[in-house]
Amino acid sequence: MCISVDLLDDNEAKLQIMRRAEPTFSETDASKHTPEYYDKICRNAYFIAATRDAEICGFCALYANDLKTKTAFITLIAVLPGAQKTGVGSELLKSAFEIARDKGMRRMCLEVEKQNTGAIAFYKRGGFTETAENGDTIYMGRDI
Ligand SMILES: CC(C)(COP(=O)(O)OP(=O)(O)OC[C@H]1O[C@@H](n2cnc3c(N)ncnc32)[C@H](O)[C@@H]1OP(=O)(O)O)[C@@H](O)C(=O)NCCC(=O)NCCS
Repeated sequence: MCISVDLLDDNEAKLQIMRRAEPTFSETDASKHTPEYYDKICRNAYFIAATRDAEICGFCALYANDLKTKTAFITLIAVLPGAQKTGVGSELLKSAFEIARDKGMRRMCLEVEKQNTGAIAFYKRGGFTETAENGDTIYMGRDI
């Protein structure tokens, strides 16, 4: 099995994989994924696509433009069900760190639902620690 990760430019391709991954998110998370939210990602985020056997099987969208705080933010990451737990998410994270560092960022942050214990375990494995919580949301971060 060969996994590769690359920045994607094509907005239609970004929308397609984000829509395909929609069922992997909880109802609460999915309700935040409005057309405006997707549009903002297409315009302003770095969008990394993971390809396995010539098919896109996951993605990570991150903002890395806050030169004041030098803090990047992962807004969305998902791996399609058939490809989960095979290291695709880890490759996406690694690539996100590289891109963020390349853009002058020193830290990476994200938000995750408290109930999403799988994702929390994944982020902890990726070096993130909890920095705060508010209601159902956990804030995590790590230096990069
Ligand atoms: C979270 C997600 C991106 C992880 O991607 P993945 O490709 O399955 O992760 P990997 O295979 O790279 O796993 C890396 C490590 O995280 C751990 N991990 C991943 N998913 C896990 C889960 N559900 N429960 C516990 N640990 C998990 C793995 O065990 C692995 O540890 P290891 O290296 O010791 O084996 C994926 O499960 C997903 O798309 N979830 C649905 C969407 C979502 O919730 N996104 C996050 C919203 S904030």
